[in-house]
Amino acid sequence: AAAPVLTIDGPGGAGKGTISRLVAERLGWHLLDSGALYRLTALAAARHATPLDDEAGLAERAANLDVVFVAEKPTTAVLLEGDDVSAAIRTEQVGDAASQVAALPAVRQALLQRQRDFRQPPGLVADGRDMGTVVFTDAPLKIFLTASAEERAHRRHLQLQEAGVDASLSSLLEEIQARDARDMQRSVAPLKPAQDAITLDTTRLTIPEVVDRLTELLAQRG
Ligand code: C5P
Repeated sequence: AAAPVLTIDGPGGAGKGTISRLVAERLGWHLLDSGALYRLTALAAARHATPLDDEAGLAERAANLDVVFVAEKPTTAVLLEGDDVSAAIRTEQVGDAASQVAALPAVRQALLQRQRDFRQPPGLVADGRDMGTVVFTDAPLKIFLTASAEERAHRRHLQLQEAGVDASLSSLLEEIQARDARDMQRSVAPLKPAQDAITLDTTRLTIPEVVDRLTELLAQRG
């Protein structure tokens, strides 16, 4: 039988990245940060001057991504064409370009198998927008993680401050709302809970509370 998968989908800033990493660590499972693949595609496109409206060219970039994930504590380092781009892929600019390339069906198709290849024993925690609806439709536990847009803007603001980046709360809120709209309204793999997903609103929950809740749910399903 295929290794079990816990899918964690939801809008940006809901805490998926942190939660997924902590749950994977606790279980000793593999981790797929699917957003990183879209971010890497956007960055590779910028490096090779592939225009953001060249769907075939972008799909080619996605299919030929030369990427290595290096497990490091507390996060994972990402190498693109041999260069450490761990910080470069996290900028708002790359996130915005990622959400544009992610709206293109040929790009999503090009990344599909690469994502499924992460499913290895003893299990996988898959973080993204369409993990439960498209990539791992047979996952035994699907979570849709949300939080209010205001709370997500606030969290991103704190994260950026910690990284020494100055950003206004109101512009972050606007960006989050624009990205939500684009991710939810696109025709291919739109952001929405899978029919069999459990929705968890993290607005008033701490990170350890969410991690506990998810491991409990998984134990119940297991
Ligand atoms: O999660 P993250 O912010 O890194 O994702 C960047 C962008 O990649 C998202 O705004 C979304 O448009 C896209 N994405 C996607 N499908 C996924 C993961 C990310 O379309 N499974």
